[in-house]
Amino acid sequence: MRAPAPVRSQGRTLRARLVATVLILLALACAVIGVVTALALRQSLIGQLDDDLRSATQRFAHSAMQHPPGSQPPPPSGDYLGPGQVLGTLGARIQDGQVVGARVSNRGGEYQALDPMDYPALLAVRPGAHPVSVSLSNLGSYRMAAVTAPDGSTLVVGLPEARSHDVLNELVTIELVVIGLTLLGAGVAGAVLVRRELRPLERVAETAAKVSALPLDRGEVELVERVPNVDPATEVGQVGAALNRMLDNVGGALEARQESEMRLRQFIADASHELRTPLAAIRGYAELTRRDGPAVPRDTAYALIRISSQAERMTTLVEDLLLLARLDAGRPLERAPVDLTRLVLDAVSDAHAAGPGHRWQLALPDEPVTILGDGSRLAQVLANLLANARTHTPPGTSVTVGLAQETDNGGGAVLTVSDTGPGIPAALLPHIFERFARGEKSRSRAQGSTGLGLAIVHAVVAAHRGAVGVRSVPGLTEFTVRLPGGGLGAADAPDHAAPAGTPV
Ligand SMILES: Nc1ncnc2c1ncn2[C@@H]1O[C@H](COP(=O)(O)OP(=O)(O)OP(=O)(O)O)[C@@H](O)[C@H]1O
Ligand SMILES: [Mg+2]
Repeated sequence: MRAPAPVRSQGRTLRARLVATVLILLALACAVIGVVTALALRQSLIGQLDDDLRSATQRFAHSAMQHPPGSQPPPPSGDYLGPGQVLGTLGARIQDGQVVGARVSNRGGEYQALDPMDYPALLAVRPGAHPVSVSLSNLGSYRMAAVTAPDGSTLVVGLPEARSHDVLNELVTIELVVIGLTLLGAGVAGAVLVRRELRPLERVAETAAKVSALPLDRGEVELVERVPNVDPATEVGQVGAALNRMLDNVGGALEARQESEMRLRQFIADASHELRTPLAAIRGYAELTRRDGPAVPRDTAYALIRISSQAERMTTLVEDLLLLARLDAGRPLERAPVDLTRLVLDAVSDAHAAGPGHRWQLALPDEPVTILGDGSRLAQVLANLLANARTHTPPGTSVTVGLAQETDNGGGAVLTVSDTGPGIPAALLPHIFERFARGEKSRSRAQGSTGLGLAIVHAVVAAHRGAVGVRSVPGLTEFTVRLPGGGLGAADAPDHAAPAGTPV
């Protein structure tokens, strides 16, 4: 049996969808945390930088007061911006809208003049306003503030933002690495956990698949499949438990169905059996009374003939019903070598005697065809097919009986009965092997036909594990019976297996 496919929805497994959903949610949460952390850190770094800038501005203002612009040349190194300024601090003095000095402290404790290209950026800084970020051509991003000196000039001070940016970049890098590793770990762990949690669901699907492959429509069915290890505390376990309860229920219903079928078969078989004796008695007494000859009035004699013929017909019907009930119950057939060629010859010769108006033809192979099976039942198959070819076609019709040994199929046999009669009505054809299926009911009944002949053919052939088919057009009707070489009887066929001790 095929293993059931994993639980699927729109082409993707439930497992994959669950893991993907968890990962997406986790990624979203990580992104929110990461962005908020980075923003908060940036805010705090800028605040700190602004504090430093305020102190740097005070120191520069103090130094600038001691070295007014007229006291050129510039003060010695380290004194221009005042003491204690950090590396890279920028200081500029603006007088009458002109930058009169702009320097940046460098590594050797010296000052370096600012590129005049950046002067417009310095002029844009408003004294007393909140610090602003300015991008300088060679030095990168600076945080700048300006104050007005007592002499009326404007002092601009800037601190490099590079360090804050480095700290922020480092945080973002660390965050990305940690989030990536977290998602990877969560993906692997999630896949393993979800697989483990869904395993009971796979067991449910496996059980359902096994049950769906069982033939539940006929015969005795043992419904033993159940979902193993169900834990009713979980939702999946509840599904399993519900399926098990349903299987209990279905099992019970199937048992009841089988029992009632067996009772019905038994009843039909018993009834048919019981009817045989009174029918034989009726036929016997009618015959006996008729033998009295002239003593019997004419009308009574006619009535006796009708009684005999109807009793005859009823006997056939009862025999047919009994045979069908026995085949249904799976009563074992005989299993002995059957010479089909011999059977065909006898049956055609009987048919010839019964229907001399028809043209009977044989298409037999040179070698006799033999299979294992039940000779008398197979003779009945032939008799029923030939009776049909005789009674449902007009005199003059050609009937051909063919037989062939099959080389494959375990050396089985193919038997065909074809006639050139008017054919089977198209509406009847699909139901032809059903019980009591007849064409033109009123006429058939008058002819003494019951519609069980082909049902018996079908049941006997099925009990031999063979197959019967028909094709019919006006002018050619052909029945084909295939019998396997082994000719297994019903006892070996599980479909027809009857429980021991069911005498029919
Ligand atoms: N060779 C045939 N040509 C035409 N119709 C046929 C042929 N064989 C069967 N049929 C049709 O199929 C119907 C069913 O056949 P079936 O043998 O089961 O029942 P029956 O012949 O009517 O009755 P009985 O139980 O006496 O055989 C027939 O009533 C007839 O209409
Ligand atoms: Mg018939």
